[in-house]
Amino acid sequence: MAWASRPSFRRSHFAERSGGTPRSSNMSATMHAASVLDLIGSTPLIELSRIHRGPGRILAKCEFLNPGGSMKDRAALRIIRDAESSGRLAPAQTVVEMTSGNMGAGLAVVCAATDHPFVAVMSRGNSPARARQMEALGAEVVLVEQVDGSPGRVTGRDLEAAVQRASALAAERSAFNVDQFNNPSGVRAHEATTGREIWGQCGGAVEAFVCAVGTGASLVGVGTHLRSRSKDVRIYAVEPATSRPLAGLPVASARHVLQGTGYGAIPPLWQGFAVDGHLAVTDDEAIACQRDLGRLEGLFVGLSSAANVCASMKLAMSGALGPSAMVATLLCDTGLKYV
Ligand SMILES: Cc1ncc(COP(=O)(O)O)c(C=O)c1O
Repeated sequence: MAWASRPSFRRSHFAERSGGTPRSSNMSATMHAASVLDLIGSTPLIELSRIHRGPGRILAKCEFLNPGGSMKDRAALRIIRDAESSGRLAPAQTVVEMTSGNMGAGLAVVCAATDHPFVAVMSRGNSPARARQMEALGAEVVLVEQVDGSPGRVTGRDLEAAVQRASALAAERSAFNVDQFNNPSGVRAHEATTGREIWGQCGGAVEAFVCAVGTGASLVGVGTHLRSRSKDVRIYAVEPATSRPLAGLPVASARHVLQGTGYGAIPPLWQGFAVDGHLAVTDDEAIACQRDLGRLEGLFVGLSSAANVCASMKLAMSGALGPSAMVATLLCDTGLKYV
């Protein structure tokens, strides 16, 4: 049932080009995607019934199956398409972005297929495997020294240094600066695709959505769509236990293992959105949950995915929802990015 979403997307796509009534008699009845762009999104939803036996059910979206290995492919595609159609990005113009790796991989995939040179600016604290992946996809990778973080632990100040380098580089090269933290196309992508898919895959029965926050695009986009379908859906933000500005708490330490999230400040895309609750996950909890997801479910995912699952389990067990509540969350990226 869960897998039905991905093939059905392809079927409708292929039906147009092959199907029973080909547009031209030369068209062969093959089953293929027109480009890698057609492989973005429409990911399956998996029930995590081995790691969580109740109360309630946890269903996780397999975003690691996107071609760039994370949910950021969706935002990357929408950002490039919106920039092209609004005239902010000309054909063959260079694209620049500060990235913790996943947006960079997504942009590298999309830029390769749309003929835009791509420069990724990344803190040296992010995993080197991410830089290698982007380079393999044809991107130029510029690494920025850390200010106060350490390898594997990227702080808000590290991120700010990378943001500044990216905007300077974009100006130097007359490039389009993606600026994902301020780009509303990311929210639109998740509203139009991820949120819509979750609602459909849960048969409209989802009671809560649980999500860690980097730019906020995925939480705000999915949350906006789910609330447009039912005012009863509850949205929960996940934060590292030591860095909880969204919960209104002072930041004890911005050094944590949930790469891509929890930068110690409220992201601009968060403006105007209110969640129903906040959940905290410690580094140790996320690491233990990552191990359990591998051993029990056969899913090797990154630590933000593990934090999402850990927080979903805490919520389901807290008594705040009904005993058979359906909780949806995201498996944001593959664990292979961190080895
Ligand atoms: C691994 C990972 N998890 C979660 C997030 C947070 O996603 P968003 O920026 O949509 O809030 C990111 C963002 O880069 C990420 O890389």
